[in-house]
Amino acid sequence: VVDIQRLYADAGVFTFDPGFTSTAACESKITFIDGDKGELLYRGYPIEQLAEKSHYLEVCYLLLYGELPDAAQLEDFENRVTRHTMLHEQMQYFYRGFRRDAHPMAIVCGVVGAMSAFYHDSTDINDPWQREVATIRLIAKMPTIVAWAFKYSIGQPFVYPRNDLDYASNFLHMCFAVPAEEYHVDPVLARAMDRIFTLHADHEQNASTSTVRLAGSSGANPFACIAAGVACLWGPAHGGANEACLNMLREIGTVDRIPEYIKRAKDKDDPFRLMGFGHRVYKNFDPRAKVMKQSADEVLHLLGIDDNPTLQVAKELERIALEDEYFIEKKLYPNVDFYSGIILEAMGFPTSMFTALFAMSRTVGWIAQWKEMIEEKSKIGRPRQLYTGPVRRDYVEVENR
Ligand code: ACO
Repeated sequence: VVDIQRLYADAGVFTFDPGFTSTAACESKITFIDGDKGELLYRGYPIEQLAEKSHYLEVCYLLLYGELPDAAQLEDFENRVTRHTMLHEQMQYFYRGFRRDAHPMAIVCGVVGAMSAFYHDSTDINDPWQREVATIRLIAKMPTIVAWAFKYSIGQPFVYPRNDLDYASNFLHMCFAVPAEEYHVDPVLARAMDRIFTLHADHEQNASTSTVRLAGSSGANPFACIAAGVACLWGPAHGGANEACLNMLREIGTVDRIPEYIKRAKDKDDPFRLMGFGHRVYKNFDPRAKVMKQSADEVLHLLGIDDNPTLQVAKELERIALEDEYFIEKKLYPNVDFYSGIILEAMGFPTSMFTALFAMSRTVGWIAQWKEMIEEKSKIGRPRQLYTGPVRRDYVEVENR
């Protein structure tokens, strides 16, 4: 048994904080969360105001450059993003190497990482111009990458970006248009989509953003760093929760089965958790969940499916959980993922696409945090550990073991 006191006697001040529950790894001017109040600010602006009054590309500008753009700055930024929406034609071959039933996150992770093999003029992290080009490329190409992962999975031809459409409309077009048929993007759905992008755009030092920063701290190129973020986001405790949440709501199926699942979530011997509930930082309502719930109501109403059984189960589950001692005591509230899946499903996305949509929206947050880190010339990230393995011992020849 290791004598930890003796082993680390000369280590100086040493903190042990598994899960980083109370350790700040960086300074940042981008996003602020007050978990007790349930407040989320991007560069000082409340998320509710941005979700209602702004739109995703304006929010991207805000996150990247620190201020809301004036009209000319916004137009210039939108033009720059629009000019980069195409993927290198050869990148199509990557897709064709995947099985049709590959998870879209596996494809997105691979294709984003492979961008560093195509865009050599934007991989030098020490050149501000290259950093800027990489930033614009990632924001511009992510919708194309994600939409093509979807098209590939359903065996349809890739649809090229349409630069006459706004960001969200273009994405929906690439996902749902079929070459031989007319397809018009519903502006209501495009607005709802855009709002989902805004709500997911950044969330300070969550697991995937911290992964991007850690990867970037070694000097890795931006495409490799964002691929690392995509991989981390995939897990069900993080971005994968939206997929897991809708699967859970479907499994519950009817409101009369909710108490059974609440009981399971409280049982320490059962690994089941209520997906879409709880958050490391929010000990109050996640403000994004409130906007998402309202959006779910609006979208389903406009589509004429107010009586959607999954939405009914979600609302009733929320009501019961919020009155339950266990959830009250542990301060477990619905998070951003609780209602997002219901909207995405109503729009026509399969659950396997949900996390890929999250990755696409979060790309701006990842890249803004990466840029901030590079510009501040941060040290390489290198957490320490508390060693609890065997003490020093001598090698024993195999015949003597
Ligand atoms: N259902 C039931 N119990 C829960 C839940 C839940 N969803 N979340 C937390 N708890 C309980 C834990 O069992 C634990 O109980 P204990 O103190 O008796 O051991 C206590 O609440 C604290 O939970 P931790 O896991 O220690 O809290 P942590 O901050 O590490 O985890 C997390 C946060 C991962 C989000 C967790 O709440 C969870 O797993 N939620 C479900 C998955 C989910 O919705 N993830 C999305 C998060 S938002 C995002 O990434 C976009």
